[in-house]
Amino acid sequence: MSRLSPQVTALTLALVAGLAFGKPKPGTLAPPGPGEDCAQCHDAWLGKKVVHPPVKSGLCFACHASTSATAHTFALQADGKAMCAQCHSTRDTLKVLHPPVSEGLCLTCHDPHGSDHPARLRAPIFETCTSCHPSKRMQNEAALTKHGALDPQQNPRVCVSCHDAHQSDHEKRLVAWPAVNVCLQCHDQPQKTPAGDTLLDMKAWLEANPKTELRHGPVREGRCPDCHEPHGTSDWRMLKGAFPGTPYAPFTGPETYGLCFRCHDQRLVVEQKLAEKPVSNVDPAQDLALSAQPQGERLVRVGVTGFRNGDENLHFRHVNKLDKGRPCRLCHDVHASQNPKHVRTSTPFGSWEFKLNYRKTTTGGSCWPGCHAQRQYDRDQRQENPR
Ligand code: HEC
Ligand code: HEC
Ligand code: HEC
Ligand code: HEC
Ligand code: HEC
Ligand code: HEC
Ligand code: HEC
Ligand code: HEC
Ligand code: HEC
Ligand code: HEC
Repeated sequence: MSRLSPQVTALTLALVAGLAFGKPKPGTLAPPGPGEDCAQCHDAWLGKKVVHPPVKSGLCFACHASTSATAHTFALQADGKAMCAQCHSTRDTLKVLHPPVSEGLCLTCHDPHGSDHPARLRAPIFETCTSCHPSKRMQNEAALTKHGALDPQQNPRVCVSCHDAHQSDHEKRLVAWPAVNVCLQCHDQPQKTPAGDTLLDMKAWLEANPKTELRHGPVREGRCPDCHEPHGTSDWRMLKGAFPGTPYAPFTGPETYGLCFRCHDQRLVVEQKLAEKPVSNVDPAQDLALSAQPQGERLVRVGVTGFRNGDENLHFRHVNKLDKGRPCRLCHDVHASQNPKHVRTSTPFGSWEFKLNYRKTTTGGSCWPGCHAQRQYDRDQRQENPR
């Protein structure tokens, strides 16, 4: 039902548009047969921005066939797909097809003669796509964080800057693969959000942090949509789960960081005491074993936590506070960094940045940030730090 009814609506619109085109000049009479100079009476396409070349060159009979020598009646040469296939490829040969295209409903989206929209669409791209996928329009309209890519004012190509309208070799018919190559079409320069923030040039950031083993797993695999919802969400930065954007974040439970705990073990912030050996993620042998796993499972990591002093969980200590809980991004860069465990070199705090001076040892580490004196932690031998 939901598959067909929008198509039927679109087709009805299509026929109405065709009739508007076909309407001859007012007052003209049909000739007693097919006639000759068709454009003499059928000239509605003259003012259109995009006119189909065979129409412009008067090749009406490529698509229309006269059915009588004495009456002005016509039939179409073939059904939609076959008619277009005389001159175009049918666009149904790659791995991921689009049903309206592969079923030959070319005329649902395209006007055969002329229109004012790119590619002679019957309606602007956003309306063309959302006539059958209304949920994408509703999703972005309802989202607190909307994506500029879906706003026709900012990006006239909207949906087709990421999806091929007809077919592609990639999941969800994306225009490039992995998905990061779709994102970096625009995130290769700082973008401005409606809230006035200037976003990082992500392409430059990845190039500045070239060691792929120091990139966060899903980033390393180019899977940006594992965390970001490209059609808008109500979470900060269009994330697929909760993640606070403030310098301090009151911790009300693991759901405060719902995004991270889609893939990580929440005991990381829930348990005050831990003694479990964390799973190493930078061990190439482990990575190999991991990449043999099916994709979904590969992205789920367990084992907590290396960030402890003796058995005291330092994640708990920093994050699990009702008042000044420290958010993950104070210490971690979730995309790419220069340190193991995705620890940042410096951290933004209001309008300034301070260095973390993180050093890792085999059994622990130390840091010397702007917010307290140098502190050390060691999992085997608890370290005493000045208060
Ligand atoms: C690429 C194929 C194609 C070409 C070329 C073409 N038409 Fe059409 N035409 C169609 C189709 C398909 C329809 C059916 C309505 C629709 O889908 O818009 C149509 C509809 C019409 C109609 C409206 C009547 C109806 O049955 O809906 C007229 C009149 C018409 N065409 C005239 C012309 C004239 C005149 C030319 C040449 C200047 C021409 N067409 C060139 C495909 C074409
Ligand atoms: C002298 C003016 C005139 C010329 C020239 C003319 N037409 Fe028409 N055409 C009309 C009129 C008027 C109608 C509407 C007839 C009706 O509604 O009964 C019409 C209707 C049509 C229709 C819709 C009817 C149907 O059976 O699908 C098509 C298609 C069409 N014309 C194609 C053409 C083509 C192709 C040519 C050139 C070979 C052409 N016309 C030349 C005036 C003209
Ligand atoms: C008689 C040959 C012919 C037929 C039949 C034909 N086309 Fe075209 N079409 C062309 C040519 C030539 C171009 C311009 C070159 C190009 O873009 O490939 C074109 C361009 C287009 C474009 C690009 C936009 C534009 O107008 O420049 C679209 C979209 C298109 N055609 C759709 C269709 C659809 C849908 C059908 C079937 C209803 C169809 N064509 C049938 C010859 C044809
Ligand atoms: C779901 C809507 C939709 C359907 C169905 C559809 N197209 Fe398109 N088509 C588009 C859009 C949107 C564009 C513009 C793509 C762009 O600019 O990247 C386009 C562009 C085109 C173009 C010009 C650019 C190019 O890719 O060469 C041609 C030709 C074309 N379509 C032919 C067809 C043919 C033939 C069919 C049927 C087999 C078809 N289309 C079915 C939406 C559609
Ligand atoms: C005539 C109706 C129609 C139009 C118009 C249409 N689509 Fe679709 N689209 C479908 C159908 C049917 C499917 C099959 C999947 C489904 O049931 O949702 C689909 C599937 C998709 C999918 C893949 C979904 C998946 O899970 O793999 C994407 C992406 C998509 N369309 C994007 C677009 C874009 C972009 C446009 C505009 C150029 C567009 N669609 C216009 C009917 C349409
Ligand atoms: C910035 C790139 C981008 C834009 C713009 C975009 N999409 Fe998508 N779309 C994606 C990606 C990436 C996915 C796969 C999502 C995932 O894996 O979570 C997707 C998935 C989809 C799906 C499959 C169902 C789903 O939610 O997984 C449909 C249908 C779809 N998009 C339609 C549209 C339509 C319609 C538009 C325009 C209104 C649009 N998209 C604009 C990137 C985009
Ligand atoms: C067609 C260009 C374009 C593409 C492709 C694109 N983006 Fe964007 N993106 C923008 C623009 C423009 C903004 C800034 C305006 C805004 O925030 O809505 C933005 C904003 C964002 C934001 C911040 C949203 C906010 O307001 O906080 C994130 C996160 C984002 N994009 C991620 C992605 C991801 C992930 C992809 C790939 C799936 C992607 N973008 C693809 C243009 C694009
Ligand atoms: C593991 C989850 C995750 C993945 C995967 C991910 N992101 Fe992000 N992204 C985030 C989080 C969390 C934020 C907000 C915190 C921050 O900016 O560090 C963010 C912020 C952003 C921003 C805004 C940065 C700013 O300056 O405020 C952009 C743009 C962005 N991501 C694009 C991307 C692109 C492109 C990819 C794919 C290479 C990607 N993200 C992959 C989680 C992720
Ligand atoms: C889509 C799944 C996914 C999400 C969501 C996710 N991660 Fe990860 N994370 C991984 C994978 C896979 C690894 C292992 C590869 C690696 O070292 O990055 C990893 C590793 C890490 C590591 C390094 C672990 C080590 O032992 O080297 C840190 C730190 C980390 N993630 C922090 C975060 C934070 C903070 C968030 C929330 C913003 C988050 N992750 C969200 C999948 C995810
Ligand atoms: C005060 C700084 C700090 C904060 C805040 C922080 N982390 Fe960490 N995290 C670290 C350090 C340092 C390590 C490396 C521990 C080691 O292996 O020596 C680490 C390691 C990790 C690891 C690797 C596995 C493990 O437990 O050792 C993950 C996953 C992780 N952090 C996720 C998170 C998430 C999710 C948040 C937010 C809920 C967060 N971190 C907040 C400093 C921090």
